[in-house]
Amino acid sequence: MHMKKGFIFDLDGVIVDTAKYHFLAWQNLANSLGISFSVEQNEQLKGVSRIRSLEKILAWGNKSISEEEFARLMHEKNEEYLQYISRMDTTEILPDVPRILDHLSTEKQGIALGSASKNARVILEKVQLIDKFHTIVDGTDVTKAKPDPEVFLIGSKQLNIAPEDCIVFEDSVAGVQAANAAHMISIGIGDASVLHEADYIFKDFTEINKEFINNLVSARKV
Ligand code: BG6
Ligand code: MG
Repeated sequence: MHMKKGFIFDLDGVIVDTAKYHFLAWQNLANSLGISFSVEQNEQLKGVSRIRSLEKILAWGNKSISEEEFARLMHEKNEEYLQYISRMDTTEILPDVPRILDHLSTEKQGIALGSASKNARVILEKVQLIDKFHTIVDGTDVTKAKPDPEVFLIGSKQLNIAPEDCIVFEDSVAGVQAANAAHMISIGIGDASVLHEADYIFKDFTEINKEFINNLVSARKV
């Protein structure tokens, strides 16, 4: 019997490595405020919304600013980030992502994006993967940030597939928690010591084979 599942992909850190561009833009902004910003701190911003990221940076630097200044800095950071992503192309797709997307498509599975980023569509266009997704849920569609399950629940609804029949690929702790809260199967992509709350963990998509995907198609989150 053919079973249809919903496979929901996070974007940043799962499909493309944009953390390096977020880092450059946040670092310039932090430095302009006299705040130092390290790669380790950038790690803590993975999966974290733009607003919350700036709040954290200001807290690390012990700085408080006006609402207007906050809005201006958010805009400035994004303008710089947009410059970096405008130069992205297909070479920036993470290993074996197209192989997995093509396999899911051949198997007639539901494919969605579930990202916190408001720049998700631009990035997917740049790397020419936008047409692989049946639906895209991004930072412009949600009111609650991960670890709230909202982004994935909207994805499941738009795919018309029950949450229990959805599988999420995530590289951030908040994202794995959001998938679990949505009662979906969570697959961590990255470091097992960081993503230990996930149902399954892989270093990257090269470790995921067809058999694993096909088993997921017949599994259900209990
Ligand atoms: C997440 C990233 O996917 O999107 C975060 O991991 C980022 O680092 C967040 O802050 C929001 O992205 P954007 O593109 O709307 O600033
Ligand atoms: Mg991510």
